[in-house]
Amino acid sequence: MSISKEIANTIVDPRAYANLARIDAAFTTLRKDAPFEVAEADGFDPFWVATRHADVLEIEKRADVFLNGAGSATLADKAANAFVHAVTGEPNLVRSLVQIDGKEHKDLRAITFPAFTPKALKALEEQIRGIAREFVDAMIAKAPECDFARDVAFLYPLRVVMKVLGVPEEHEPFMLKLTQELFGPNDPDMNRTGKEVTGEEAMNLLQQTMLDLEAYFGEVTKTFRTKPESCINSLIANAKIDGEYLTHRQMMGYYIIAATAGHDTTANTTGAAMWALAQNPEVLRQLKEDPSAMTGFVEETIRWASPVKHFMRTAIADAEVAGQQVKKGDWVMLSYHSANRDEDVFDDPFAFKIDRPIHKHVAFGSGPHVCLGQHLARMEMRILWEELLPRLSEVSLAGEPKLTQSTFVCGPKTVPIRFTVA
Ligand code: HEM
Repeated sequence: MSISKEIANTIVDPRAYANLARIDAAFTTLRKDAPFEVAEADGFDPFWVATRHADVLEIEKRADVFLNGAGSATLADKAANAFVHAVTGEPNLVRSLVQIDGKEHKDLRAITFPAFTPKALKALEEQIRGIAREFVDAMIAKAPECDFARDVAFLYPLRVVMKVLGVPEEHEPFMLKLTQELFGPNDPDMNRTGKEVTGEEAMNLLQQTMLDLEAYFGEVTKTFRTKPESCINSLIANAKIDGEYLTHRQMMGYYIIAATAGHDTTANTTGAAMWALAQNPEVLRQLKEDPSAMTGFVEETIRWASPVKHFMRTAIADAEVAGQQVKKGDWVMLSYHSANRDEDVFDDPFAFKIDRPIHKHVAFGSGPHVCLGQHLARMEMRILWEELLPRLSEVSLAGEPKLTQSTFVCGPKTVPIRFTVA
């Protein structure tokens, strides 16, 4: 069965992702009736939609055929794609790890990979715990109510990732604003106009954001080439491939992905986790009684939030997927949100369960582009909950959480809670 116009238009609509019932209904129908089909949405080039867990994994694995950089790596309408082509001569505005393939991707990823291994991160554990305690203390001081998203979930991962990157604390508000603009140009609460905008206007806003980021990171390169340190930004500034520093575009793409990939994603997951805790009081009790349930809790919050809704791939040769013939040049959406609710893999997928088999979800992707910061994300979330949960005795919602409007990275931007301190 083909994808109906209504569903095609839903999965490209940023507002649909701010309404879980609407987006979940669309993807549930697709998984059942049209799990891997072409969507023809108004204003968009046609694209295949992989909605099932197995198909998402299969496409990610075949990275020699399904490339990140041969087309737009994220969903964009025709006008936005034309705009990017006109400005860069390439399919993507930024050339970061997620828009590069093959050897260049491998070489670039290898520059920071060692710094993101669990072993390397272990050295940061106490420092991150100190940051978590500061945020927990500040939250407890606000008892009995706070907006968990604004007061904790958005600030803590930002502070952590900025520490890892080597960005001074006083630059954090600037980095937060630019990341939110980068991920939410369509969302009036996130973009710099404060208004609803068209796809093309959103791309214009993105370009302004990029220029601000480039100016900032130009200074970062100068600083760390003069005085190298062990942080990620210094590794990027001083990295050489075949004896040469990275090109300007490679370096900017790298700084931008490192600075932006790590906090909205983790923030959305942390906010969604508190939302789930407020709705499932037995989970809070279970975690307090049995700290070994923490790993399952963190993993389920990542599946539950699936803050990265999709990435796109472009086929560079004909290929068969799920019995369908994909042609060279076809554009493919990997819906992590849908794959993480696949009834064939997750028992009762719309329930929040912390005792599921671990590591089944695809919220971090898979294959050569699998999230570089996954161990950092898990570790910082675990530490936050280890510090916070012993100090909470009860938590409930004090209002309706509000989700970001975005087809790409989204989650709760407000989570009003009422809580009692243990
Ligand atoms: C819960 C939090 C997070 C989620 C759900 C998440 C999800 C993802 C996903 C889905 C991808 C693309 C994978 C693919 O194409 O197969 C990705 C890539 C990436 N993530 Fe994360 N991420 C998170 C946190 C972080 C953190 C903390 C960092 C640290 C800086 C980070 C850095 C990156 C980078 C650099 C890439 C590009 C990797 C590449 O293309 O080789 N992420 N992430």
